[in-house]
Amino acid sequence: MTMKTALITGASSGIGTAFAQELAMRQMNLILVARSQDKLYQLAQTLKDQASIDVEVIVQDLTEPQAAKKVYDTVTEKGLTVDFLINNAGFGDYGAFTQRELSRQIEMIQLNIVALVELTYLFLSSMQQRGTGSIINVSSIAGFQPLPYLSIYAATKAFVLSFSEALWAENQGTNINILALCPGPTESNFFKVADFPDSFANQNNGNLTPAEEVVKEALEALEKDKSNTVPGGFSNQFIVNSSRFLPREWLLNAIEKQFRG
Ligand SMILES: NC(=O)c1ccc[n+]([C@@H]2O[C@H](COP(=O)([O-])OP(=O)(O)OC[C@H]3O[C@@H](n4cnc5c(N)ncnc54)[C@H](OP(=O)(O)O)[C@@H]3O)[C@@H](O)[C@H]2O)c1
Repeated sequence: MTMKTALITGASSGIGTAFAQELAMRQMNLILVARSQDKLYQLAQTLKDQASIDVEVIVQDLTEPQAAKKVYDTVTEKGLTVDFLINNAGFGDYGAFTQRELSRQIEMIQLNIVALVELTYLFLSSMQQRGTGSIINVSSIAGFQPLPYLSIYAATKAFVLSFSEALWAENQGTNINILALCPGPTESNFFKVADFPDSFANQNNGNLTPAEEVVKEALEALEKDKSNTVPGGFSNQFIVNSSRFLPREWLLNAIEKQFRG
């Protein structure tokens, strides 16, 4: 049987690395995408040695214009077919909207939304031509309600959730599965990159879901052809469902107090 190939963005750290490790164990060939060249090549070598799979590395800053097209063209030039796309690369930026750099917010939209949309468009089109494929787009529990002090981040994740679920429905009745993965707080570099205050990191420390667990729940949900999944147990389920029952202003004020820092 020919081996399948998964392309993972943001494979150099956290949830992306955990996807690479799990899919390597499941004997999938991999294409790893991120900016950190050394980390990617190191991971590629480890996985090749451990699992006897093919691993390609594409070093690419996905906030650059045309980045997704460059990734797609590189994949095509190498003669590879992507059976499984994991749009995982993303970041947040903690603080009141006007207190943070505008350019950083635009980069976030570029990575969390634009690159994800472009990669989905390019790879989904060829999956549809072949009549088979899978896509996981990494959203967040932040996608279910606005988050003061993470305003743009939560809005990007709401976009990813809405976009991915719409595509899930468009592709029903085909052999193409599309899942919005909505993790809660997860062990990774996310909080450091987002510049969260230490008090948050300490508060969250005991409550972080291991990235490996998030990945296992995601793959299970994809196999069941779910449109979204919220891994990590009851507290995350409670958070995403609370926005359905609580008055919006009440919820926003409560989150504002919690996230004020
Ligand atoms: N951790 C959480 O609590 C949590 C919760 C819900 C959702 N998420 C989402 O999960 C996804 C993965 O994040 P993580 O938690 O694993 O955080 P992470 O450890 O910081 O990993 C982020 C990944 O994205 C890549 N990336 C960042 N900027 C990039 C760029 N400009 N171009 C290409 N790749 C870039 C990073 O690689 P390089 O730096 O090498 O480029 C890294 O591999 C994100 O979409 C995040 O929003 C995380």
